[in-house]
Amino acid sequence: MNALPKCWAVIPAAGIGERVGSNIPKQYLKIAGKTILEHSLAPFVNTSRIAGITIALHPQDAHFTSLDISRSTCDKIHTVTGGATRAHSVLNALESFEAQIREDDFILVHDAARPCLTERDLDQLIDVCLAHEVGGIIGSCVTDTLKHVENNNIVNTVDRENIWRAYTPQMFKFGMLQRAIQTALKDGVCITDEASALEYMGYQPCMVEGDVRNIKVTTATDVSLAEIFLQQEMKS
Ligand code: CTP
Ligand code: MG
Repeated sequence: MNALPKCWAVIPAAGIGERVGSNIPKQYLKIAGKTILEHSLAPFVNTSRIAGITIALHPQDAHFTSLDISRSTCDKIHTVTGGATRAHSVLNALESFEAQIREDDFILVHDAARPCLTERDLDQLIDVCLAHEVGGIIGSCVTDTLKHVENNNIVNTVDRENIWRAYTPQMFKFGMLQRAIQTALKDGVCITDEASALEYMGYQPCMVEGDVRNIKVTTATDVSLAEIFLQQEMKS
């Protein structure tokens, strides 16, 4: 008998957050009462649609074990050691699933540094991707005018029609995703998200429009912005 495919989450959290410039990795900064990592995990912990969560941690991580989630009896969360790049961290997490997962189970990869994902957007991505032959990602269309700049001078205006920002989560079948990342890394292709690995294999993932507040905390300003967004969401 064929069981329905399950959904599993992978949270790459092995970065050092250099661009934020804080004395601890950005995923461990506390905003709106919890660490950024705990906010990013919350929608996955709170839904029964996610069977398990694997977090990739830096080999010298000194913070995870001090979080309540690491001590909780919740057996939904596991950790692995991350790699040199985000893609290597994701691959390490995928390898750790191999014994318990099926080829056509789904993986949702979500940055530890995206604390403002809503349960609504997560639900919508799962609904759309369960019915899509490749899988897809959350994103939003670009609204600013885009310029091609060289040496601080504008060369031309870039046509922004059909240009979208790529967010996470990104949801793909386990086997397809693992093969795509392995192939892209072997071929030396720079992949900054999962969709680009699938694109490299010739697939066309779908784009699901999500809330623009689902920012990746990259700079110190983003830390403040994320805190404002989280406080807004708590009040609503
Ligand atoms: N990440 C990871 N393994 C790496 C590098 C990054 O798991 N070797 C994770 C980060 O922890 C983050 C996500 O990938 O959740 C997105 O990466 P990014 O925003 O670049 O985070 P950092 O690499 O930590 O930041 P910076 O590039 O400024 O150092
Ligand atoms: Mg980085």
